[in-house]
Amino acid sequence: MSDSIIFKDRKKLSPRYLPKEIPHREKQIDILVRTFLDIKDDPDKFPLTVLQIIGPAGIGKTSTVIKFSDILENELRKNKINIKIVYINLKLQGGNKYAIYKYLLSCIAPELPAQGLSAEEMLRQLLDYLSINNMYSLIILDEIDYLIKISKEIGIIYDLTRLNEFDPSKKCNVMGVIFIARSTEFYEKLDEAELSSMGRTYIEFPNYTIDQVSDILIRRSKDAFQENVIGTDIIDWIAKIVISPIVNGDIRYALDLLSYAGNLAESEGTERVLLDHVKKINKQIYNGITDEDIIELSKLQIIVLLGIIKGLKIKHKDYVDLKEIRIQSLEIAEKYKLRKLDIEDILDDLATRKIIKIISLKKISFISSSVENLEKTLISKIDSTS
Ligand SMILES: Nc1ncnc2c1ncn2[C@@H]1O[C@H](COP(=O)(O)OP(=O)(O)O)[C@@H](O)[C@H]1O
Ligand SMILES: [Mg+2]
Repeated sequence: MSDSIIFKDRKKLSPRYLPKEIPHREKQIDILVRTFLDIKDDPDKFPLTVLQIIGPAGIGKTSTVIKFSDILENELRKNKINIKIVYINLKLQGGNKYAIYKYLLSCIAPELPAQGLSAEEMLRQLLDYLSINNMYSLIILDEIDYLIKISKEIGIIYDLTRLNEFDPSKKCNVMGVIFIARSTEFYEKLDEAELSSMGRTYIEFPNYTIDQVSDILIRRSKDAFQENVIGTDIIDWIAKIVISPIVNGDIRYALDLLSYAGNLAESEGTERVLLDHVKKINKQIYNGITDEDIIELSKLQIIVLLGIIKGLKIKHKDYVDLKEIRIQSLEIAEKYKLRKLDIEDILDDLATRKIIKIISLKKISFISSSVENLEKTLISKIDSTS
């Protein structure tokens, strides 16, 4: 038991902690389990199955897949099938094929030396090892879109989705490959062969509704905080922030807010976390834009920022395109009796100030993850000067 009056177990809010239950992802877990459960009847008849999981950051993709892995492993163990499920986070495991295969081999066949082997030889070793040891495997590649975006080495999708063709005279003991990505944008960088072997269908992870977010946060708070430390006012407030277009459903953001607000309550010696603690932390986390930055902004720049915020709200996305920004900004400018607005120049300037980022003309967004309070601040600044 913890001796903090705020926390029961603070590490249960850490991004690395995997909660026992993943509520509101039952359907996705079920689809995954049903897809692979037939392995238990006869793994040698089970075809190499490729799946994709797509959905924005922080909505439970990784947690769901890990949960599914545990369930599948258990089920197959009951049927005396030895399966090794390998989870690879491509943001953590090197940016090239060689490093990734080496890691894969070390997970499945730790006693085999990968030194001096080519990428292809490593895959061959892996397949041979599985079959000699009567073992099966399932490979999960998380953050595949990240890898494809940063590296030209995209042969990995081609290789892994065709492991069954590697040596047609032998059976392939890799039962499946699951790719996880935030969006389908990375398709643009793949060639036809890769796209077709990966398939274009995916399991969708929709954003949680506000009630689902509240429920998740209540459960997570119960694990991490002492009783009565987190009130419903706090859950409600954070849930609203989480579903706002800027945070876009990212539960990680909510857990951060809870955890930092808990620390703040602790350091201030209050008995419970107060809404003010949470609000204060929320302001700090969005400090991609400081008060100082705002003081330095011109009226026109503020108008364009307000236009972006408006556009984000309308589109319910975490980015917005130039056209929408133009429409919204001109409308706001009209209100302030300003006619001339060189939007492109202003956007460039805001980007160099690191307030926004321009990924493309279709994708313009804020650098910080939350601009919840920014709109109000901007409006009061422009109102005080006009
Ligand atoms: N349904 C849920 N129940 C409990 N915690 C959740 C749930 N969904 C997400 N989380 C938590 O939110 C954080 C982000 O989830 P994660 O699975 O890493 O998202 P993603 O992989 O989609 O970015 C993790 O700390 C995870 O424990
Ligand atoms: Mg993830």
